[in-house]
Amino acid sequence: MSDQKLRFNSKTIHGGQQPDKAYGAVMPPIYQTSTYAQTTPGGHQGYAYSRSANPTRTALENSLASIENGNYGLAFASGLAAIDAIIKLLAPGDEVISTNDVYGGSYRLFKQIFEKFGITFHFIGMQDVDKIAKYVNSNTKLIWVETPTNPMMNIIDIKAVSKLAKKYQILMAVDNTFATPYLQTPLDLGADIVMHSATKYLGGHSDVVVGALVVKDKNLADKLYFIQNASGAVCGPMDSFLVLRGIKTLHVRMQRHCENGKAIAEYLAKHPKIEKVYWPGFEDHPNHQIAKSQMKDFGGMISFVPKGSSYEAAIKMVEKLKIFTLAESLGGVESLAGHPASMTHASIPQEERNKSGVVDALIRLSVGIEDEADLIGDLEQAIG
Ligand SMILES: Cc1ncc(COP(=O)(O)O)c(C=O)c1O
Repeated sequence: MSDQKLRFNSKTIHGGQQPDKAYGAVMPPIYQTSTYAQTTPGGHQGYAYSRSANPTRTALENSLASIENGNYGLAFASGLAAIDAIIKLLAPGDEVISTNDVYGGSYRLFKQIFEKFGITFHFIGMQDVDKIAKYVNSNTKLIWVETPTNPMMNIIDIKAVSKLAKKYQILMAVDNTFATPYLQTPLDLGADIVMHSATKYLGGHSDVVVGALVVKDKNLADKLYFIQNASGAVCGPMDSFLVLRGIKTLHVRMQRHCENGKAIAEYLAKHPKIEKVYWPGFEDHPNHQIAKSQMKDFGGMISFVPKGSSYEAAIKMVEKLKIFTLAESLGGVESLAGHPASMTHASIPQEERNKSGVVDALIRLSVGIEDEADLIGDLEQAIG
């Protein structure tokens, strides 16, 4: 059966996969090799050197392309290495319009690495798509979208942004780390590139750091493959294997992340000691209708602020958690709690953080797939 005809839950398991040619192994072997024997110069079986290509990485790249409804997948050493490859498509003088409420590491890469090379970044709120057009000029080459955003859970209308990007012939990339293709497939909504920190939900078990890109267009894929090989930030065969294995259960994990996320968001919203809860499933979330139309469900990421917006109260709360582990990262089977201002988003200046709502009292939860009652019990004892 062609991959195109498979439904999502089948694609996570079979998409782009074939039994291994050597012995029929159902899971691709971990081809832990840097190089490959040649019978004559250039006489190899499609693999010459593992920076350029490795069979385990190819199996992962084909799976990525399948689940995101793209044609070409590329796996990198980390999510940031994948973003780095996208920005290397640009040249000095080019401009990028980016979501203002982006992952702190993306902001740091843009501002502290690429601005030095003459690329200008405009960070703007994109909940109102009409605002984006004001920043477009003849140098604008890329629109960078993260939705839902990390950590404010803002929702950006992918279809509307892609319409604008196409009108001005600007490349559009979407960081799909929070949603995963279980919830939304940006390429189907008009984006040119979809990006992942596969470290998160795709890997799903907090045991690997990997990045991914998926595109439909061959010309764009060729340019990115060139950068992937020329810059060399590829992921190894063991890491490729782990993400591939993670993807096979993505749909069942995501279903439970969404169920637990909903229960916890509703619990927090009713709690007298909680001031504000950010979760796109609430009907009064500013872009709830867009979330409803472009996402299948609302995910397991939630941010909230304790009553009084007190930094001390927030820190006390995360310290008291027992089942939620205080840690960087997200998207694993285990529940994690984070304090964005001092952890994931510490590289964004406080003034910039406050503008987008990442205040010092904000707590971010990555709701795992444990028992819902145990998670709520843990929050109950920590909130007090
Ligand atoms: C939304 C988002 N994008 C990109 C990244 C960077 O990915 P990595 O840590 O795999 O380099 C992260 C990491 O936290 C993230 O949350």
